[in-house]
Amino acid sequence: MFKKIIAIASDHAGYELKVLLGETLELQGFSVLDLGTDGLQPVDYSDFADDMAKVIRNKEVDRGVLICGTGIGISIAANRHTELRAALIHDALGARLSRQHNDANIIVFGGRTIGTEVAKDCLDLFLSTEFEGGRHKQRIYKTSKI
Ligand code: RB5
Repeated sequence: MFKKIIAIASDHAGYELKVLLGETLELQGFSVLDLGTDGLQPVDYSDFADDMAKVIRNKEVDRGVLICGTGIGISIAANRHTELRAALIHDALGARLSRQHNDANIIVFGGRTIGTEVAKDCLDLFLSTEFEGGRHKQRIYKTSKI
């Protein structure tokens, strides 16, 4: 089982969804480590991917949520860090398989592209689904060496 503390970060375009998902996680009994941003003032999403990598690397958290407008920029930035396996998710199947097959430790959303109920449902699945291991382990190992 992973730590019951979830890091969450976004740029300005993901700020509103970040607030909503943070509140939802707290209601579910998780502690939330909010890495910002703190408002709608434009910021660079890559800074928040870097901050997420730090808290994962330091083992402060095992799982995180990253959000930008489409989820694309912050996914690209996140996956430059070898300790992050960030999955940009749009639906429940993706959320479940990102855990079962990819052992994703970061779920990424597009704040401008996903509905709030879909995002909440995907986050639930992401946090409640285990990695299957087996044949997927070697693929993840090879990917982490790139
Ligand atoms: C910000 O306007 C927007 O470009 C950013 O949130 C993200 O969608 C980039 O991929």
